[in-house]
Amino acid sequence: MNSIPDPERESFSSKFGILAATAGSAIGLGNIWRFPYVAGENGGGAFLFLYLGFVLALGIPVMLSEMLIGRNTLKSPVGAFVKLKKGRAWPLVGIMGVSGAFFILAFYAAVAGWTLEYLYQSVTNGFSGKSPDELGDMFNAFREGSWRPIIWFLVFMVMTSAIVISGVKKGIEKYTKILMPLLLAILVILSIRSLTLPGAGEGLRFLFEPDFSKITANTILQALGQAFFSLSIGMGTLITYGSYITKNNNLSSTVISVSLADTFIAILAGVAIFPAVFAFGIDPAAGEDLTFIALPSIFQQMVGGYFFSTLFFVLLAVAALTSTISMLEVVVTYFVEELKLKRKRATILASVLISTIGLFAAGSWGWFENMTLFGKNVFGLLNFTSVNLLLPLGGFFIVIFVGWFMGGKVVKDELSNEGSLKARFWLVFLFLVRFVAPIAIAVVFLNGIGIINF
Ligand code: TRP
Repeated sequence: MNSIPDPERESFSSKFGILAATAGSAIGLGNIWRFPYVAGENGGGAFLFLYLGFVLALGIPVMLSEMLIGRNTLKSPVGAFVKLKKGRAWPLVGIMGVSGAFFILAFYAAVAGWTLEYLYQSVTNGFSGKSPDELGDMFNAFREGSWRPIIWFLVFMVMTSAIVISGVKKGIEKYTKILMPLLLAILVILSIRSLTLPGAGEGLRFLFEPDFSKITANTILQALGQAFFSLSIGMGTLITYGSYITKNNNLSSTVISVSLADTFIAILAGVAIFPAVFAFGIDPAAGEDLTFIALPSIFQQMVGGYFFSTLFFVLLAVAALTSTISMLEVVVTYFVEELKLKRKRATILASVLISTIGLFAAGSWGWFENMTLFGKNVFGLLNFTSVNLLLPLGGFFIVIFVGWFMGGKVVKDELSNEGSLKARFWLVFLFLVRFVAPIAIAVVFLNGIGIINF
């Protein structure tokens, strides 16, 4: 049933390598930058509640579906659908995914560039003695500047390409092993400092006490988009990573560990940020700048702030890097397969194309501030549409495909490694991907964009 793997195709060397790479893709700015600010804009506790529900009921099945398609076909998201031969339209889902990777990487790398600027500010003591208000002004001045946000963005794109050129396995495993656990440790230290600030309790209440009156159709869609974004699902990234996983690995346990770790880190980021936000009187609905104001404010109030802030921004940049690698990899595998390019050329081509769009995202508050549509700048448009529209759509088609087109036997064989694992839950999984996930995603999506109304 499975074709002989292409000898040129890499696979991850160990179980740990798979976990590190998949967790590296999932854990990133989505957890530490995006989750807190989107939760803040959507009322806190109720948003968290929806988010957790979506991770468990929809995120995990979509994630498993993607990895199962990848490992079964050993192809890129487009090649996978071509190979499975279930109709001409399916590869379009892969194409949508590759385009999604394009757009997401374009704005994501802009934010990753902000982390480099903040690393630079940490090293040169740039936050020293500034109040939260002044830190807010400092962030805006940076973002509205002409060159700096663009240069840092380009530096980040070059770093991402350099690692992707040298190959996924060598590139990722090496970095994530030590740095991810360190990121976790420093988030714990930050949370402790934040929780011991006067007035911290209000922040915890905001994050954990659901106020369901704050939920709107748009909040529900944003929670779904954020869940998919944070887990790196809905556009084929994990089809690509699944294709590097060897047949003897247990996909379900990888998926469960990664989604739990990812969710834990997002909540931990919330616990570090919201108590400080309330203690310092920062507006929780401040928007994309929330993390970049709240965290330096905490560093100003702690012993060893200089050291922790430098270390933290190094780690955040690395966490972002293991995510940007996974996005660029999707586009590169596609170019290698479809355009028959060598890996190096494919990477350079993809990076140049993505950087061209990304320039407009990075310059959205500076040079290109007047380019707006529906009141959103380029960054806002890419951020909103790719996360809240493309990812749910992608996830929808992926579960429909696995549930209705792939065939129960293939699904069972993949989950049980051809019968060597028990995988009794495969029927539950099939039920989720046939009925629960597609219906729920469709309802949230149509309700969110206003086509149906509950
Ligand atoms: N999940 C990553 C984060 O939270 C971002 C990311 C990497 C991503 N690859 C993706 C998001 C694919 C959507 C799709 O930072």
